[in-house]
Amino acid sequence: MNDERCVLAYSGGLDTSAIVPWLIDRAYEVHAVLVDVGQEEDLAALCGKALSMGARTARVADARPAMFKTVIPTAIGLAATYEGTYRLGTALARPFIALAQIQRARELGGATLIHGATGKGNDQIRFEFAYRSLAPECPVLAPWKTWAFGGRQDLVDYLRSKGFEDRYEVTKDFSLDENLWHLSVEGGPLEDATACLDVERILENVADRFGGAKGGGKGPASVAITLEKGVPVAIDGQAMPLADMVSRLNVTYRHAPWAWDLVIENRYTGIKSRGVYINPAAKVLQLAADALARTCLNKPMYDRYVDVGAAYGTLLYRGEYFSDQRVLVESSARELMSRLNGTVTMQLEPQPYAAQILAAQPMFRKDIATFERSTDYSHQDAEGFIRLAWLSTIGRSSTEGAYADPVEAGINVASDVCGDQPMPAGGLVSSKA
Ligand code: ARG
Repeated sequence: MNDERCVLAYSGGLDTSAIVPWLIDRAYEVHAVLVDVGQEEDLAALCGKALSMGARTARVADARPAMFKTVIPTAIGLAATYEGTYRLGTALARPFIALAQIQRARELGGATLIHGATGKGNDQIRFEFAYRSLAPECPVLAPWKTWAFGGRQDLVDYLRSKGFEDRYEVTKDFSLDENLWHLSVEGGPLEDATACLDVERILENVADRFGGAKGGGKGPASVAITLEKGVPVAIDGQAMPLADMVSRLNVTYRHAPWAWDLVIENRYTGIKSRGVYINPAAKVLQLAADALARTCLNKPMYDRYVDVGAAYGTLLYRGEYFSDQRVLVESSARELMSRLNGTVTMQLEPQPYAAQILAAQPMFRKDIATFERSTDYSHQDAEGFIRLAWLSTIGRSSTEGAYADPVEAGINVASDVCGDQPMPAGGLVSSKA
């Protein structure tokens, strides 16, 4: 007999459902935690399901308030992404799921921490990094790395053998992860990058998820986002808690043609994967923050903004939330975001763009930007500027044998591919039929 207490991050899906009887078979006392990260599911009903499968206790833990106080505003304010395209939905939530498990384990006076992530993805790393950082005293068990099951069908067969047969969709094509920030869709046709992808068909499969059932898709063609210290505080002049704003934008624009991103990403485990991420609120709010940053930060500070956003995105993606580097990056984030105050009108058709930026402390000067006469700017000043800037940034001319005619030199990146290219007649677009 094992009789050890364990705390399982239970989602109600196939994997964690198979884990419950599997643990009981190994004489564990199972305590399920259903962490509310904004997924649209009946969590109380899922608690019932865990109990009916033999869990000793099952509780809901609400991680949303903590997420909306910490990681979500920072991810928006920094316009943080991973590899420039993935807006981080799953990565934002995992540390908070782990935290809720650890809190439950402490309540129980210690327990083994269990997650249902496979050995192929990033989620196992995110869970286990958090466990190690916060609760090094707790043993960890990841059934996917231990059991003999090889895939989903094995899990269904196992559950059936335990008498839980009719609860699972056997042939779900996609692996989905839903929270307040996004719905991720992976697997199925996305796994083959050589197959010509039809994203519309994938979207049809998940049309009722992530606010889809509540309608939406026909919201106003523009929204004005007011940000304070980089954090959205009002929409169209109406003050609103961030959580309400994110959920409202997600529900309203869930079906908009620009609501999703198709991403090929490099997982931490070395596997390349392709996914569709539905995240309209993230897109609108991050583009608004970035527009404000471009308007309010000088060039070196905007460069830092990009670097810090990328650093935050990468560390979150890699599961380094509970780390010194996250604390460091967030202190830079605070400084950078403190300049981002104002209202950005986002035009949403045909795709989101910052149409108007009313910043409290703008550095954008139309009197200088203008192609017309400026009183504060002399064209002559540029002469000396260019002389000195050239000296410090290039400083060597072709009199020293450098930079000969690039065609003559024949050592261009594409010279072997492009060769002698015929030019279209009559400019870029030929007028002749
Ligand atoms: N590829 C994304 C990430 O690593 C999404 C992962 C979704 N997880 C899942 N269990 N379906 O953040």
